[in-house]
Amino acid sequence: MSRGLLSIMAAILLLFSTFSMASEEAPKGASNTAQKEMVQLAGADYWRAVKGGVEGTTTSRSAEHGVLISTPGETWYILKEKWMSPAGAVAIFGSIFMVVAFYLIVGPLKLSKARTGRTMTRWTRWDRALHWSMAFTFLTLAFSGLMLVYGKHFLKPYVPTDLWGFVIWLAKQYHNYVGPLFGILVVLVLLKWWRKSIFRKVDFQWFMKLGGMVGKHKGSHPSAEFSNGGEKALFWLLVVFGAIAAASGLVLDFPIFDQTRRDMELANLVHGISALILICGFVFHIYIGLFGMEGALEGMVTGEVDETWAKEHHDLWYEEMKAKEANGELDSAQNAKQDDVKGATANEQTS
Ligand code: HEM
Repeated sequence: MSRGLLSIMAAILLLFSTFSMASEEAPKGASNTAQKEMVQLAGADYWRAVKGGVEGTTTSRSAEHGVLISTPGETWYILKEKWMSPAGAVAIFGSIFMVVAFYLIVGPLKLSKARTGRTMTRWTRWDRALHWSMAFTFLTLAFSGLMLVYGKHFLKPYVPTDLWGFVIWLAKQYHNYVGPLFGILVVLVLLKWWRKSIFRKVDFQWFMKLGGMVGKHKGSHPSAEFSNGGEKALFWLLVVFGAIAAASGLVLDFPIFDQTRRDMELANLVHGISALILICGFVFHIYIGLFGMEGALEGMVTGEVDETWAKEHHDLWYEEMKAKEANGELDSAQNAKQDDVKGATANEQTS
């Protein structure tokens, strides 16, 4: 390309860019305003005003878009980083420490009498599918959420930057997409188990005897319906704080409804605090389920519990089921199972 042609093209480009700059500035009106702005851009006063949260002008119509730096955000930052995050870490480690101490000092709750070998159906297939879906979703969300809050302290300094970037991106994506599923599961849990989770007088007596787990009441097996007082409390903890965590999570997930920065900050704090309360509560539940009570886990895995377990931990439910069995009110699957058990017992006796 000749030098002359290049010069002509450069001149045309210059002409176009001058026109377009002029047309961008034209709506702003006076050129001296633009000049003033340019001077302020470079000046300390301008940045002092920006840092002070002064609102400027912008073509965007969204709420607060004229504010470059939001000063009340500092309060949110302090509440989150200096209060919620350390207090949450203390609460989680405190809960873990307490269950370990409980295991070492009090030990797991064993059955007082021998197993009968006869079982009762406690959880249907649908119950178990719901429970384990909830457990998986909750635990993975808890893990990714804790990574988002605490990962910068316990992982970031020790791994290559690229790996850290990938881990935190994955945690964020997982949390954003799976979070709403947790909300749906909370609703299903509420619909499925609310009836048996209503508190009654017997539950307060259960609490007064500390569930028969410690002190002079240890091994006393206080009366309980299908769920005992502790399980009912846990259920409502899950429903209330689960709903709050899910709702505040949706506010954060979809910032398209004119939420202001204040709304997002409040949602962020409410989300974090409710999630931390749930995590601490479920440390105890998981301990009881996995190590703290003989025979509980097999119920949630197979659906069946031994009659000794039912009698010792949920005597009112045991009696109700036995009365139903006597009146022929159990469903066909349950009756078939009871017939099998009776048959097996009869065989044992004749052999
Ligand atoms: C490793 C993790 C877990 C284990 C081993 C476990 C174990 C159990 C067991 C054994 C039961 C039945 C207790 C009984 O028959 O009386 C149960 C019930 C239950 N679990 Fe879990 N669980 C786990 C995690 C979770 C999580 C993360 C949640 C929710 C966030 C959850 C929510 C529930 C609820 C709502 C019930 C029913 C309580 C009731 O109302 O009777 N579980 N779990």
